[in-house]
Amino acid sequence: MRVLVLHGPNLNLLGEREPQIYGTQTLADINEAIGKAARELGFEVQCEQHASEGAIIEALHRAGATSGGAIVNPGAYAHYSYAIADAIAAIRIPVIEVHLSNVAAREEFRRISVTAAACRGVITGLGASGYVLALRALAELLSN
Ligand code: DQA
Repeated sequence: MRVLVLHGPNLNLLGEREPQIYGTQTLADINEAIGKAARELGFEVQCEQHASEGAIIEALHRAGATSGGAIVNPGAYAHYSYAIADAIAAIRIPVIEVHLSNVAAREEFRRISVTAAACRGVITGLGASGYVLALRALAELLSN
């Protein structure tokens, strides 16, 4: 079964971007860990990073037609993109939202996720492990 992992804006800069918040792992490191966990779970995984809202929406639409589930870190779009929330609600596959940092413990504007309400579940604050946990959650959801 195919699973799409979508990384949103600025996540291509992981490793150098605010390492005190996001850690020192690069996006390539994280994608490698995702690939390894996916293989162990028997998933065929595709990881994509998009800066623009439209590209994320189009990727979600594609995932709805071609994947069994998706994992999305919308970056700052999580806090205000009703268009991404609508795209998640429109597709019929389970979507899990992941945030590397604990958004509940940061600035006020990060405490709201408008996209989370459209998702099956949310994992926040566990760094790159969040993606691996989300894959395991999808494996369980999709086996039921
Ligand atoms: C983030 C949290 C967002 O608030 C922020 O805008 C990001 C990264 C995270 O993974 O912790 O770009 O989604």
